Order: sequence, then structure tokens, then C-alpha cells
Amino acid sequence: THVEKVGKVVCVGGGTGVAVLHPITRALKEAGNHVICIIGARSKDLLILEDRMRDASHELHVCTDDGSYGHHGFVTEVLKEVLEKEDIALAVAIGPVPMMKFVSLITKEKGVKTIVSLNPIMVDGTGMCGCCRVSVGGETKFACVDGPEFDGHQVDFDELAKRLASYLDEERTSMESFEKSNA
Ligand code: FES
Repeated sequence: THVEKVGKVVCVGGGTGVAVLHPITRALKEAGNHVICIIGARSKDLLILEDRMRDASHELHVCTDDGSYGHHGFVTEVLKEVLEKEDIALAVAIGPVPMMKFVSLITKEKGVKTIVSLNPIMVDGTGMCGCCRVSVGGETKFACVDGPEFDGHQVDFDELAKRLASYLDEERTSMESFEKSNA
């Protein structure tokens, strides 16, 4: 991740994406930025790294979809409020594809540069199999070698969501067989 001092930064994380966001948040703070974090999960028991994210940032907002902890609602709702109040120079969003998509739509309206980290299915991780291809600014990119970080305003998130759902049946079968073997 390219880290430099840009001023005020907002870091938005959802689900397990918070784990990826943590070292980036810390580095942005160490570089002298004022870092505002918004993290979310479906419910309180699925929220991770709250304390570490608090340490890594200047301001932390926590959201849960079911209202079991923190703000009742999505991270995007808090993001809108932050963007209204603060002069944000950079946004970093890492989490589920719909979250990154809507964060990018909101920041695009405000003209705030936004970095996302993409998670397409990867096979060889060397740029040869093409499995991890994503469309960014109308061009095909391989997330394993060209990313995984890209300009969120250029990413075709709908295509990424479709590609991520390609093996749902196989994933379900695999999970069932795993659960049976552990029963
Ligand atoms: Fe094979 Fe990226 S995982 S090209």
C-alpha cells in the first residue's frame, strides 16, 4: 500500500476486511494523517479488532447491521456524515463487495479519492491463470499482480460480484461435506 501524508483520511472496513484495513490504518496514522475509522459487521459477535482499530486511528465509529452494538446501520450512513463534516483527502475501503461499491459511489459524488482492496477468486497468484481478473476503468486487470488495491471509482463491482458467485454451488457442497466430516 502506498502511504503518504495527505491530511484527513477515512478508513472504512466491513467484516473480515477490517483485518486487512488495520495495518494500513496504522501506517496512515504513523505517516502523520488524521485518521477517522468506520468499521462494521452484521452483529456485535462478528465485529473484529475494535480495540486495535481504536489505537490505530484518531476517531473510531462502529456500526452493526442489526443494531446489537454501536450505530444501528451501515458504515455508509456514518461515512456520509463524516464527509459532510470533514474535509477528507483520501478514503480507503476494504470489506464485502457491496460495501466497497457503495462507499465508492458516495465518495465519487464528493470527489474524494478512494482506494479499495479486491478479493476475486485466485488460483495461481502469479498473473498466469487469469482467474482473478477484474475490470478497472474498462481494462482487464489481474488483482494478484496489478492489485489488489485499485481506484474504487474505476472498478466494475457488479462484474466482480457475479464472478465471486460463480462457484457458490461447489462452495456449498464443500461446506456440507466439511461439516459432515466434523460431525
Ligand atoms: Fe491467477 Fe491472478 S490468480 S492470474
